[in-house]
Amino acid sequence: MAKLISIFVFVLLFFSGCNKSQNSTLRSPNRNLTVSFQLTSGGIPFYQASLHNEQVIAPSFLGFEFKDMSVFQKDMKIISVKHSSHNNIWETQWGEKREVVNHYNEMIVSLKEQKAPNRKLKIFFRVFNEGFAFRYEFPEQENMLGDVVILDEMTEFNLTGDHTTWWIPGDWEIYEHHYNKTKVSEIDAISKRNHPDLGQTYIPYNAVNTPVTMKTNGGVYLSIHEADLTNYAGMTLKLNESKDGFVSELVGSKRLGYKVKRNMPFETPWRVVQVSESAGGLIEGSDIYMNLNDSNKIGDVSWFKPTKYMGIWWEMHIGKSTWYMNSREKTGSNDSMVKHGARTENVKQYIDFASENGIGALLIEGWNTGWNHWCGFPDREGVFDFVTPYSDYDLQKLVRYGKQKDVEIMMHHETSAAPRTYEQQLDTAFSLMQSLDLHTVKTGYVGNIIPEGEYHHGQWMVNHYQKVIETAAKYNVAVNAHEPIKATGKRRTYPNIISREGLRGQEFNAWATDGGNLPSHLPTVAFTRMLSGPIDFTPGIFNIKLNPYKLNNQVNTTIAKQLALYVVLYSPIQMAADLPENYQDHAAFQFIRDVGIDWEQTKVIDGEVGEYVVIAREERDTGDWFIGAITNESAREMELSFDFLPEGETFKATIYKDGMGAHWKKNPTDFAIEEAVVDSDTVLPIRLAPGGGIAISVFKYNHN
Ligand code: NOJ
Ligand code: CA
Repeated sequence: MAKLISIFVFVLLFFSGCNKSQNSTLRSPNRNLTVSFQLTSGGIPFYQASLHNEQVIAPSFLGFEFKDMSVFQKDMKIISVKHSSHNNIWETQWGEKREVVNHYNEMIVSLKEQKAPNRKLKIFFRVFNEGFAFRYEFPEQENMLGDVVILDEMTEFNLTGDHTTWWIPGDWEIYEHHYNKTKVSEIDAISKRNHPDLGQTYIPYNAVNTPVTMKTNGGVYLSIHEADLTNYAGMTLKLNESKDGFVSELVGSKRLGYKVKRNMPFETPWRVVQVSESAGGLIEGSDIYMNLNDSNKIGDVSWFKPTKYMGIWWEMHIGKSTWYMNSREKTGSNDSMVKHGARTENVKQYIDFASENGIGALLIEGWNTGWNHWCGFPDREGVFDFVTPYSDYDLQKLVRYGKQKDVEIMMHHETSAAPRTYEQQLDTAFSLMQSLDLHTVKTGYVGNIIPEGEYHHGQWMVNHYQKVIETAAKYNVAVNAHEPIKATGKRRTYPNIISREGLRGQEFNAWATDGGNLPSHLPTVAFTRMLSGPIDFTPGIFNIKLNPYKLNNQVNTTIAKQLALYVVLYSPIQMAADLPENYQDHAAFQFIRDVGIDWEQTKVIDGEVGEYVVIAREERDTGDWFIGAITNESAREMELSFDFLPEGETFKATIYKDGMGAHWKKNPTDFAIEEAVVDSDTVLPIRLAPGGGIAISVFKYNHN
């Protein structure tokens, strides 16, 4: 039906022309990208976009359905169009680069319905060289007062062809899915329902989650996502009936029976389309998300230092130890206390190892009571209190012990998806952290949200995640959320949002029943999920076959690929995820010790979505460089040019590469180390094994 209406409208449009009284076309600063906004003769708003005069987004309608009001989509008139240009540079406190250029042209279109209730709407368009964005603002007005309820946002993204698409299903509960590569018309999210390895999942429509990335037949890359997701529901993109485009499908609340409730006036998140002529351009252009957010609201966060960290973590995922201390309720199992991972003595050994290797933090999961009654139990309210340690874990003593050795304990708050309990405890939990001078917390939301009918990605939870961030900021706490809401560039406004999961992380390799993440997973993630912001993927597994703990699982990688992830995947906290005994005396561990964690600048050297990616990053304050390259199942040979180095200086490169016999499945631990002297003229041949990678540290000669 929607399609029929669109065809009808375009026929009308064709024959009657449209309202061209105002200049509602906007170009990017380099003039390559054009977005134009128009009304049909029936007053229906639509936009379209082109790159070098080739259409990249076909005419796409905009509209809203509110409760107790008529649909807001037709009979509109353009009241005014205001154009302006903006160009400034702002500095990050931590990040993939120090300086971010924020350069765009803006157009604000004010609209008014010509029939009762004569509602008003403003649409803000911004066009950058890297893509474009628009957001709706419902200004103060007589006929929309107080609370308004949105039943549906009807923002279309109509495509110009059946593009190759890398997508995960539009799950309202979790983003931890395999990526799929299909044509747009072949997207079938419904077939991804009920994956046995997901703690919670709900896929109501044939929709995808964002960022969703596409490649046109003409070689243009598009990625659709959103920025500044605040007090609103997350947006999934539903395949339209003719399977040639998407329409926004907001995550709803079954408990409340709507998508969004807002008090007038209000604005929506930005709807963003990145447009690039290279795959790497998507990564380099992903600053667009931060640029579409307000500048820093919480001030200096120098109490948070980007850091590598270890964890009492992987040992639970591979089954060497447990989160809970006593045998788990109702399971009838009889685990002895000795298996509890977060034991004071065990933690001390990790602290010693981290300290000896210059690793600044240690995550300890399973430290607090409640783990015998979390995942799988419906009555999870009030179970975790985030302040009461198990009796075999001496929190105060371990914090002191760590401080003496320059290792800060990273707190863990697994909420078990009971956000109301967590909100009641937030002040006490963060006060405890403040009293111990601890500044980083990993949060978690495993399970269906309590109360029933709310979903991880709906407005109610978006507001919960926001509350956690704002409260944490008051206590100088930085947050790394697992089972989070998607990143939408808010780290600019709240630089205590340091990292998050929001993808199929390393943990799946320890226990997934379907063979774990494929070698193509991370070369896809780099061009999809990573566009939205930092990823707590937790790389660095050296005992790839998980022997003797998980003989039926393995990480589908080579050692060199695990090292490369510290450069390829960006996060200001990067875990060295494996057990200390697997790092001890391992030559490859030197790269993890050395690799930078905070960057002056980032260059995407090459890449193709789902196939391979090569990234170089310059460390802040040292001028040292690190390079990471990863590939999917295919081996690759390439020439790596060091032309990103400053001219006239020589550097010492240490190359951690796949051995000649390396293969992610057959021979994942075969690797070699080589040294070379390099400068900006150097071009080195490199080879990546099937499922492999390469990691290179490039030190200035005065490096110490
Ligand atoms: C899922 C998280 O992704 C994982 O990192 C954590 O260990 C468990 N939940 C327990 O909180
Ligand atoms: Ca998870």
